[in-house]
Amino acid sequence: MTTPRPLCLIPGPVEMSATVLQAHSTPATAHTDPKFVEAFGQTIEMLREVVGTASGQPFVIAGSGTLGWDQTAANLIEAGDSALVLSNGYFGEGLADCLATYGAEVTRLRAAEPGRRQPLAAVAQAVRAKKYKLVTVSQVDTSTGVLDDVRGVAEIVREHSPDTLVVVDGVCATAAERLYFDQWGVDVLITASQKALGCPPGISVVVASQRALGVLEARKSPVPAYYASWARWLPIMRSYEDRAVKYFATPCVQTVFALHTSLTEMLKDGMEPVFAAHERTSARVKAAVAAWGLKTVAVPEASATAMTAVWLPESIQAADLLPKLKARGVVAAGGILAGQAHRYFRLGHMGITATQDNGYVDTMLKAVAEALEECGHVAAVSGRSTPPRL
Ligand SMILES: Cc1ncc(COP(=O)(O)O)c(C=O)c1O
Repeated sequence: MTTPRPLCLIPGPVEMSATVLQAHSTPATAHTDPKFVEAFGQTIEMLREVVGTASGQPFVIAGSGTLGWDQTAANLIEAGDSALVLSNGYFGEGLADCLATYGAEVTRLRAAEPGRRQPLAAVAQAVRAKKYKLVTVSQVDTSTGVLDDVRGVAEIVREHSPDTLVVVDGVCATAAERLYFDQWGVDVLITASQKALGCPPGISVVVASQRALGVLEARKSPVPAYYASWARWLPIMRSYEDRAVKYFATPCVQTVFALHTSLTEMLKDGMEPVFAAHERTSARVKAAVAAWGLKTVAVPEASATAMTAVWLPESIQAADLLPKLKARGVVAAGGILAGQAHRYFRLGHMGITATQDNGYVDTMLKAVAEALEECGHVAAVSGRSTPPRL
């Protein structure tokens, strides 16, 4: 399939449906307009269904995913609090830096090498050895495509340190990777509109458990933030959910309309078919990578379904491949791991790329196969591929 413009198949922002695009280009609408109040209220309710919570409190605030890091750190960390960060790459490191900015004493538990995640035994050892106020886990680290075991981590924390909060960075995961907020015992889920939620960038979505809100209430020092203060946003979220207007800072009206449209489409048959579609799509992409004679950066037992990062043969750099992909109508992303960025490329297959029968994945796989060939790569099926250095 060819489109008049290149498809954006990076690990976010993602391709959007025509109805989402329409919702995003509606005329000026007051944030007090009953139509907006209803859409905002429903959006908050639908987000609970997306993440599987009855009592979690969504915060839907204009900003990018990083604002979710700041919200979490500003509201839950007091100077000197200890935080354990499970880091599988660039975004785990960023979250650790953000927590430290708000005064946390951060312990980083890093994967042994790019593409792996920390074994659960190491997580158990860490939470038994020291009491942490919170433990963070990036469900998918977008730099490597490594999927962390949120359920396993949460189970360990609940068993060994029940008061410790489980914070999940789901920016590159929510609505693509399975997560059941209440069932798994998650306390904070941080995500954003531009990935598997299928919208333009512009909305920071955070869901906080009642336990996390209790920790906020019990803090001794004031929250060192104004815009990111949950105490300021809570009445706003509750009010819109009650279909009443309350103002703290102007919501991004059109992006909320877009999110409302995307969630309405997504939840037509509930989340299970959405997760299953992402799993099927990911399996296709992983099979194609093997057929190209290449390896994913993430080891198979810790591979995301939302995206795929692929090691390139030694003879090819990301900068060689990406323009050839674009010439074939596909925008993919290069690497972002320090010192290794040129050695791999990343494909996003979230949202409608995974869930709708639009041919985007066919276009992507064909483009990559042809671009690799143009770069001189001969696929493994002929037995002549160059295995990546691991
Ligand atoms: C896992 C993860 N966390 C956090 C972020 C930061 O989100 P944003 O770029 O929307 O601020 C990203 C961005 O790609 C991400 O992939």
